[in-house]
Amino acid sequence: MKRPPPPWTPSPPALRPAFLLSSLITTAINSSLSSGTVPPSLKIAAITPILKKPGLNPDNPNNFRPISNLPFLSKVLERVVASQLKHHLSDNNLYETFQSGFRSNHSTETALLKITNDLLLSSNAGNLNILILLDLSAAFDTINHSILLTRLETTFNITGTALSWFTSYLSDRNQFIYINNCKSPTAPLPQGVPQGSVLGPLLFILYLLPLGHLIRRHGLHFHCFADNFQLLISTKSISTATHSILTNCITEIKSWLQLNFLKLNCDKSEIKIIGQNKLTTSIHNVTLNIDGFPVQTSPHIRNLGILSDQTLSFSKYIKQITKTAFFHLKNIARLRPSLSPTAAETLIHAFITSVPIATASSIVHLQKSSTNFNTSRTPPPIYSPTPESVNTSPPSSSSSTGSPSPR
Ligand SMILES: *[C@@H]1O[C@H](CO)[C@@H](O)[C@H](O)[C@H]1NC(C)=O
Ligand SMILES: *[C@@H]1O[C@H](CO)[C@@H](O)[C@H](O)[C@H]1NC(C)=O
Ligand SMILES: *[C@@H]1O[C@H](CO)[C@@H](O)[C@H](O)[C@H]1NC(C)=O
Ligand SMILES: *[C@@H]1O[C@H](CO)[C@@H](O)[C@H](O)[C@H]1NC(C)=O
Ligand SMILES: *[C@@H]1O[C@H](CO)[C@@H](O)[C@H](O)[C@H]1NC(C)=O
Ligand SMILES: *[C@@H]1O[C@H](CO)[C@@H](O)[C@H](O)[C@H]1NC(C)=O
Repeated sequence: MKRPPPPWTPSPPALRPAFLLSSLITTAINSSLSSGTVPPSLKIAAITPILKKPGLNPDNPNNFRPISNLPFLSKVLERVVASQLKHHLSDNNLYETFQSGFRSNHSTETALLKITNDLLLSSNAGNLNILILLDLSAAFDTINHSILLTRLETTFNITGTALSWFTSYLSDRNQFIYINNCKSPTAPLPQGVPQGSVLGPLLFILYLLPLGHLIRRHGLHFHCFADNFQLLISTKSISTATHSILTNCITEIKSWLQLNFLKLNCDKSEIKIIGQNKLTTSIHNVTLNIDGFPVQTSPHIRNLGILSDQTLSFSKYIKQITKTAFFHLKNIARLRPSLSPTAAETLIHAFITSVPIATASSIVHLQKSSTNFNTSRTPPPIYSPTPESVNTSPPSSSSSTGSPSPR
């Protein structure tokens, strides 16, 4: 059992008043923290709707993500609070261990690495693994303020002035939509934490904390990245018992979410069975009822943006990345005659760094192609593969080794 955390109170930031401006900012932040109030002028957000993915239908409002643009001073204030709050959370071991979202030294890469490693170890031991991906709908926007504040007080021991500060931070928020120089009337924001704020994501993962305890009670493994939850059960054979453990757990998750004003996004829920080939081919499809919505096993799943198959081979994903990357490289090649060597080099480097780094082989492959661009210097050392790996990876075969690269 964890010890109850000590009380947490914010202290004035240690900004050096090198300039008049910074001392004014320090004073403003200091007075906000010591009085436990956030001025109303810092609680107005200009919302810019951003398409979730290029190519989605812009006529459907559900395809947009409402990103809040907040005043500069508000961001500074939030940053000061966030950094102190993070210390409180890590010093007292209050984070969910298996939450990789919005934490320093954690990322989608570490989340994927953990889950892939668990799956590989368990498959090697001859187990069948059922991986269930759950996604929440518009989760940031439906957070209930009174539940959040109660949770901050009871679970995280944030009391007194600090709690007043958070109460003030969440209450009387306003927002308006701003597109192409057109401004909508302002509307109050009675629920939700702003996307695009500094504290929003942190408050969000604190709000979700009890969900981890709930899943543990059912004896399931899990990992989450923000609002993306992955449940994992390993078994020798898929029986009705396995089925009922999963169903019970999902039913309880569902009712917890309902009590907390959250909802599963069933369209994005996926189930996958992972194991050695001879095991997975012999079993029947598993169908789980998630929120009255039958979800079937699918051979390929997209987990945190990475596509993999039943045996955890990433070859399909690598093919896809390489294909897209070559498309862009060809476009850069067309521009090459009108670019100086330095500009071409900058462009190539910027491009390579933006490619999702899933496996060493896709990088090696791409690097070989980009060095054909005749920029005078070689690419930066971080991408330099060892000589052997270059020689064994001819550009025509984009086959993968099937194992993720921990870089
Ligand atoms: C908050 O911290 C104080 C001081 O350490 C402690 O006495 C109290 O039990 C804690 N409260 C909770 C709810 O953990
Ligand atoms: C912050 O406020 C406290 C009390 O309100 C005061 O003692 C302290 O000097 C202030 N610090 C700065 C840097 O202004
Ligand atoms: C992140 O990792 C670095 C290097 O290992 C370490 O110095 C730092 O304290 C870590 N940060 C946190 C918040 O754990
Ligand atoms: C937040 O939750 C409380 C208690 O569950 C409820 O009374 C209140 O109506 C909820 N607020 C909103 C905006 O849904
Ligand atoms: C499982 O489902 C897939 C796709 O729905 C189907 O192609 C396959 O034949 C099914 N396998 C079994 C054993 O029912
Ligand atoms: C690379 O560029 C240099 C001068 O910029 C030129 O002399 C050389 O022939 C080029 N090499 C290739 C392979 O195009």
